[in-house]
Amino acid sequence: MIANHFTDMKIIRTVSEMQHHADELRKDKTIGFVPTMGYLHEGHLALVKAAKILADVVVVSIFVNPIQFGPSEDLSRYPRDFERDAKLLDEEKTDIIFYPDDGEMYEKAFSTYVEVKKLEDHLCGKTRAGHFTGVATVVTKLFNIVKPHYAVFGQKDYQQLTVIERMVRDLNQDVKIIPHPTIREADGLAMSSRNTYLSSEERRKALFISASLRKAEEMFSSGIRDAGEIRKAVNTILHTEDGIDVEYIDICDAMTLEDISTLEKKAVLAIACRVGKTRLIDNTILTEALQ
Ligand code: PAF
Repeated sequence: MIANHFTDMKIIRTVSEMQHHADELRKDKTIGFVPTMGYLHEGHLALVKAAKILADVVVVSIFVNPIQFGPSEDLSRYPRDFERDAKLLDEEKTDIIFYPDDGEMYEKAFSTYVEVKKLEDHLCGKTRAGHFTGVATVVTKLFNIVKPHYAVFGQKDYQQLTVIERMVRDLNQDVKIIPHPTIREADGLAMSSRNTYLSSEERRKALFISASLRKAEEMFSSGIRDAGEIRKAVNTILHTEDGIDVEYIDICDAMTLEDISTLEKKAVLAIACRVGKTRLIDNTILTEALQ
């Protein structure tokens, strides 16, 4: 049982109650939505602030979605602290937290999945089999439950954002996706709930990731368009010291996520690596607008 000490913020735990509220709200208000897996940080709160500017009512979901974790991933140790999250969301004047449990979201006989083909074959999709199907499926369910007009997603999970945008277009889902720039710590580290796993030494090493992205931006701004040359410079920075295990450094088309060798159209440079046991991702968009 979750106690609600908040006077203005509702905590809803069931699908039927959330859907009923959404129907009532939609009679004369717009709904902005921020889906999360909890353990909130400034990055999530920036999405909530953006949703508040766009919509009359803001709903934040907190649900650690089991079907987007592979068997050897961190589902059981994923950080959780509902009381802390609720306090932070109350301070942001969030209207509703949708906080279902696994059984509420997935019946035993659950068997329908949303698969966004092609986009899943690149970047993180290459090593995280089924991850984006898990994300697309839960986000579709959340859209059907929360019925938002707007949904805000961070650009830090660039492939996730691209998959969701494709899915919304392909399935004519009636929601506008709002991308939000990555929020970083003062020293450049992209905010992530998983940063909490890092020891102080690992956290120091993780700074090479954002430093390598800044180097790539500088190279792009100076006119370099050869993807191989930029990748090489990024790789060198990530290997400045031992301790970063690079999974991929990919430069790809920002829409299709296919690898490119020359940067002509809007491109994304995306990195995934392990620092200790922690898998971190980050990216930057390389486009003429940078110049
Ligand atoms: O980005 C996340 O936290 C999750 O992938 C999301 C979008 C909440 C779906 O579970």
